[in-house]
Amino acid sequence: MKYIRFEFGVALGVVLLVSLCIGSISGQSLIDPAIEAKVDSLLGKMTLEEKIGQLNQYSSTFDVTGPAPAAGSNKIRYEQIRKGQVGSMLNVVGADATRRAQQLAVENSRLGIPLILGLDVVHGYRTMFPIPLGEAASWDLDAIEASARVAGTEAAAAGLHWTFAPMVDICRDARWGRIMEGAGEDPHLGAQVAAARVKGFQGSSLSALDTIAACAKHYAAYGFAEAGRDYNTVDISIQTLRNIALPPFKAAVDAGVATLMNAFNEIGGVPATASVHLQRKILKGEWEFDGFVVSDWGSIGELITHGIAKDNVDAALLAITAGSDMDMESSAYVQTLADLVKSGRVEEKLIDDSVRRILRIKFLLGLFDAPYGYSNNEREEQVILSAGHLLTSRDIARKSIVLLKNDGNLLPLNKNRGTIAVIGPLAADKDAPLGSWRAQAITNSAVSLLEGINEAVGSNARVLYSEGAKLAIGQRNFLQSSTYNENDKSGFQAAVETAQKADVVVLAIGEDAWQTGEGRSQVEIGLKGVQEELLKEIYKANKNVVVVLMAGRPLVINWMAENVPAILNTWHLGSQAGHAIADVLFGDYNPSGKLPVSFPRHGGQLPLYYNHKSTGRPTGGSIVFWSHYTDALNTPLYPFGFGLSYTNFEYSDIRLSSETIDMGGELRVTVGLTNTGKRAGAEVVQLYVRDLVGSVTRPVKELKGFQKIELASGQNREVTFTLTSEKLAFYTRNGKWEAEPGRFKVWVGTNSQEGKEAEFALH
Ligand code: NOJ
Repeated sequence: MKYIRFEFGVALGVVLLVSLCIGSISGQSLIDPAIEAKVDSLLGKMTLEEKIGQLNQYSSTFDVTGPAPAAGSNKIRYEQIRKGQVGSMLNVVGADATRRAQQLAVENSRLGIPLILGLDVVHGYRTMFPIPLGEAASWDLDAIEASARVAGTEAAAAGLHWTFAPMVDICRDARWGRIMEGAGEDPHLGAQVAAARVKGFQGSSLSALDTIAACAKHYAAYGFAEAGRDYNTVDISIQTLRNIALPPFKAAVDAGVATLMNAFNEIGGVPATASVHLQRKILKGEWEFDGFVVSDWGSIGELITHGIAKDNVDAALLAITAGSDMDMESSAYVQTLADLVKSGRVEEKLIDDSVRRILRIKFLLGLFDAPYGYSNNEREEQVILSAGHLLTSRDIARKSIVLLKNDGNLLPLNKNRGTIAVIGPLAADKDAPLGSWRAQAITNSAVSLLEGINEAVGSNARVLYSEGAKLAIGQRNFLQSSTYNENDKSGFQAAVETAQKADVVVLAIGEDAWQTGEGRSQVEIGLKGVQEELLKEIYKANKNVVVVLMAGRPLVINWMAENVPAILNTWHLGSQAGHAIADVLFGDYNPSGKLPVSFPRHGGQLPLYYNHKSTGRPTGGSIVFWSHYTDALNTPLYPFGFGLSYTNFEYSDIRLSSETIDMGGELRVTVGLTNTGKRAGAEVVQLYVRDLVGSVTRPVKELKGFQKIELASGQNREVTFTLTSEKLAFYTRNGKWEAEPGRFKVWVGTNSQEGKEAEFALH
């Protein structure tokens, strides 16, 4: 445990230094000796029932009359809070409601221990930011941190102490609806983004009243659900777990994340919630994590449906033994743990360990000193949706846009002349851009594309609008799946006529917000409903089509990519979506986003990812016996790391500072980068390596570094990366995180498929 080192002071400082050198321990500690003393003292006063109460979390939605618990509808839970048998609530929102909930616990329970109040603040609280997959496309860690900072500030002002974010699940299968919540397919980018988001939410001090505790989820490998179907079985190798799924979690822990959430899925036959290996051995053992683990919603109870526990008693026993500290909404702990302890099946010290972890975070948040400090009506009024927050949202929204195609430099458009037809089911939509997992966003509150264009153009150009067709019909909400318009083309004619009158068409199509998110997997990831037909009709009428593709996942868009001259992939960009897209359409911002995920040619290629293995038969000729499809290419339509700009960047050849790295040493990799175009722009320079021979098979390419470089027209500069042997380490056949001597290829370039190449050796 890290705190032991504090007590041993200088002597163990040496241990810490050594540990840092071997790279096994790093980052922020959650241990403060003064707080540890308070935790111990409080723990000493608690009855077993009160301790178990700290491990119990309820949602507020059990009361239909309002967000905070009321005596009427669920008396038992209400009384439990008053008796100190509830340690946390989720989904209580707003300064008033959170204050009321807190009062119940603080002013009624024997020890007055405050609740920790949490919510899924995933990409904004009320000021919405791009969905996390979109933000990852910015490859701009400062902007990502700033986005989480704003979300944390707004949530904190509304009385929340804790967000269930960042979601750091790597995903290689875009059928999975929750791909929108993460940073895409790559563990290196995913780890950097995870750390940036933790820093954003938590700031430099958890006790500040404008910061909240973060929660890295879903531990672990939830994104590997078989066939992309949510909640489905996960069955991956230990290498994939260690090398691909876990690095973002490790990065979050190193960044000082206060909590983790475990996952619904099983992995290798053991549900994550019951996994001693994941929670006790790796997280709390190897990584020395001192915060707490909350279960996912009901996931302790679901151990029964998984078929690994026969009842709630069994489920609680498995989960607490595995290190799941807090029970979200199963009631398994509060109902069974006391008897399990009394009968000797669970040692009380396990309960103490979990309680200690939860109290530690409550103390660090300052909840004992000021239990109502976060619930501040004045601050809530001032900060939520403030002008500064909206600007921050617009800034990262435009940085998240990826230019996929721009034939004949159709983009940027001139906003001072001509006629622009804005067409499509998403063109005037003020809701879809808010995305899934939208916390307290106000329905229909985003700036639509049409509004953004109108404001940018003013009276200088003519803007025409036609919806063309509806995408979803009927209800659109968090709980139910939507129905898509498969037949109604009655708006086509008007849209075609509008296109004919214009110099250029901006066609907004893609996905509704509720096509992605939890429980929203799809077998087909193309354009739903009649959208592709609309696209073809519009293209027949006017060839100058710019598609603005709004989606929560990469879509299959072969016809579009083949035919229309320009495509902007704009994800779901949040509150300021329309302004951000207009900024890019008219060249007020030069697009700089790069894909954090591969765009497949066909859903049948999934899972698809750039850092795949070689296989024994990676290439072939005219005979069929090699690893390929007979009816499609293996490659993605757009690769990981891909994104165009309105300017051009040229890379010089790679220079290495040496042809070898010694174990523990480093090597510098340099390229020259020149902006050869006419506009200023930013390029994400990416460094990939390939470990040519390993003790286990190695990916054909792995991202190991990136830098976002801004250059004026004509400007050039050297870009240098430092490669250490530590960065070449992976989970080897020895079951260790280590680098293996041998030869490596290195590329520096503009995406995962193009790059200047060199070779070096690690000795
Ligand atoms: C279930 C989801 O899997 C998780 O991500 C979320 O935080 C909880 N529900 C609470 O809403």
